[in-house]
Amino acid sequence: MTIKKGAGIILLLLLMNTAGAYSEQSATYVGLKKCAPCHPNISNSWQNTRHAKAIDSLKKSGQETLPACVKCHVTGYELDGGFIDYELTPEMAGVQCEVCHGPGSEHVASPMTKKIVKESGAALCRQCHTQGQDPGFDYAVKAKNVHGN
Ligand code: HEC
Ligand code: HEC
Ligand code: HEC
Ligand code: HEC
Repeated sequence: MTIKKGAGIILLLLLMNTAGAYSEQSATYVGLKKCAPCHPNISNSWQNTRHAKAIDSLKKSGQETLPACVKCHVTGYELDGGFIDYELTPEMAGVQCEVCHGPGSEHVASPMTKKIVKESGAALCRQCHTQGQDPGFDYAVKAKNVHGN
């Protein structure tokens, strides 16, 4: 009994330590405005994509406050630095860079040493382009113009 209890505590400490190390490293969402100065061309062309206008689609029907809708039409929903609601975090509306490239705080602080995720793959798209929302989703076709033109 005593041995088991001791081992359990050590295991718990190990787990806590690992979790701490991860949270120290994990980046947070910062929003497009932070990316634009260093990536002006992509940021401009992205404005012409439907991802950029995703919140407008909800506004048309007054549904930009419905969590069931916004979760796929915004950036970093309910994650650190990400979209909370349209009143508090309007700058995180729309499907921005960090949806596909991951939270960017560390890359923004030191772009040469902190790589941001380069590519996402079909699985990431499928979080929102689900079978129900977008039955005909074809990654090869739809990823061609992710940054607009
Ligand atoms: C201070 C300038 C700066 C800011 C701010 C910045 N970047 Fe970068 N980014 C760079 C540089 C420089 C590179 C090229 C790094 C290299 O080649 O090693 C880069 C590369 C990238 C790449 C390609 C990574 C790869 O492996 O090829 C992506 C994607 C990217 N940035 C996305 C973003 C996003 C998203 C944001 C906003 C959250 C952002 N960047 C903000 C300077 C910046
Ligand atoms: C956070 C959710 C989310 C993710 C992840 C996401 N999208 Fe989207 N995407 C949307 C929404 C929402 C729209 C519709 C925007 C509108 O018109 O209001 C959309 C629209 C599009 C469109 C234009 C309409 C269409 O279906 O042809 C393309 C193309 C597209 N996405 C490609 C992609 C690709 C490729 C990926 C993965 C690399 C991806 N998306 C990841 C939410 C997402
Ligand atoms: C699971 C993710 C997801 C959820 C939840 C979601 N959407 Fe979307 N929405 C998408 C994607 C992906 C697209 C683009 C698909 C396409 O164009 O084929 C889209 C497109 C749209 C469009 C543009 C349609 C067009 O063709 O112009 C509107 C409007 C829209 N959604 C409204 C809503 C509303 C309202 C809700 C809540 C009731 C909602 N969405 C919930 C992912 C989602
Ligand atoms: C819908 C997903 C999606 C969004 C949104 C998105 N990207 Fe990308 N990005 C990709 C994919 C996929 C690639 C890889 C393309 C390739 O290798 O051909 C990429 C590649 C890149 C690269 C490296 C290659 C290059 O084209 O220079 C940079 C830098 C970059 N993205 C920055 C951005 C910035 C900045 C934004 C926001 C303004 C953004 N991306 C928005 C999916 C996305």
